[in-house]
Amino acid sequence: MILDGQDSHAIERAALALRAGELVAFPTETVYGLGADAASDEATRGIFRAKGRPSDHPLIVHLPDRLRQAESLSRFAQPLPPFARALADAFWPGPLTLIATRQPGVGAAAAGGQDTIGLRCPDHPVAQALLHACARHGVPGLAGPSANRFGRVSPTTAAHVAGEFGDDLLIVDGGPCTVGIESTIVDCSRGAPVLLRPGVITRAQIERVAGERLRSQAELAQPDPRASGTLESHYAPTAKVRLMDGRMLQSALDVLGAQAAHIAVWSRTPLKSRSQRLILRRMPDDAAEAARQLFALLRQFDDEGAKLIWIETPPETAEWEGVRDRLMRAAA
Ligand code: TXA
Ligand code: MG
Repeated sequence: MILDGQDSHAIERAALALRAGELVAFPTETVYGLGADAASDEATRGIFRAKGRPSDHPLIVHLPDRLRQAESLSRFAQPLPPFARALADAFWPGPLTLIATRQPGVGAAAAGGQDTIGLRCPDHPVAQALLHACARHGVPGLAGPSANRFGRVSPTTAAHVAGEFGDDLLIVDGGPCTVGIESTIVDCSRGAPVLLRPGVITRAQIERVAGERLRSQAELAQPDPRASGTLESHYAPTAKVRLMDGRMLQSALDVLGAQAAHIAVWSRTPLKSRSQRLILRRMPDDAAEAARQLFALLRQFDDEGAKLIWIETPPETAEWEGVRDRLMRAAA
């Protein structure tokens, strides 16, 4: 059932359902999340069941902003190191997840049993209205992975979520997500920042604010982080995705000529085809706009019956790292 996120009664209803241990999908600026009371291991286990996600893959805990934030943060995590505090101050609310040392005895299910926990304060008015309503009812944070089944494309509208989980799930509608790809994840639990997942906040922005160089996973010996967003094959639509440069795309279309069918193409380079049955879409030149469109477009190509999705390889620049990462995993 889809609830209107602008309606305060709907927010209250969703918060009460969460307090009762139910699952509720909610909008964020990045993608929709599948939420449960993060302080309740019982409620949180429902997420793993619904998603078909292995229970040792940790979830992100979403926190309210402003006054409530410090209270919720200290419930789940030990005090952040100064560089992590600086990142939270600069980018929260926003599309940044920090991995911190977990407060023992809380959020074990959300953390997938690890002694660290992922935390994020989303920049979406409906998410914040829900998180504040939850806090008033004694729910300090919402464990929430992307609201899709394991390994599939993240949802960026309420309708996508309903398509994944059906009509029984309570879904708070906050409109289409404006960022469109998942948050940047920085592990802050190992003495220096480590980038676990690129997003729209770039490496350079993180290093400037943290006052520290981002270390590679290999540089800081670590236990297995079990980040499903970092599995090689992920974010996959049903159709087969391939990345090619503009010239290769054009020659492939020339070879197929009028026969090209069940193929969807997303490219910045203008392309020509003699086929009437080709699905041809223009990739924006702006990385942020491309991120916003990406997941909805992959779903749309599936719906339009594409068997193959050919995408022009994005530029090798910093702004495109998040989109490049998702496309490489979709193609893996
Ligand atoms: O933008 C986002 O981050 C969205 C919205 C809903 O907030 N959430 C999201 O959640 O993408 P999910 O579960 O699909 O991806 C969370 C990622 C996973 O790759 C998970 O393994 C990693 O965060 N993660 C969470 N806690 C972790 C921890 N303690 N250590 C290492 N990785 C962690
Ligand atoms: Mg996900």
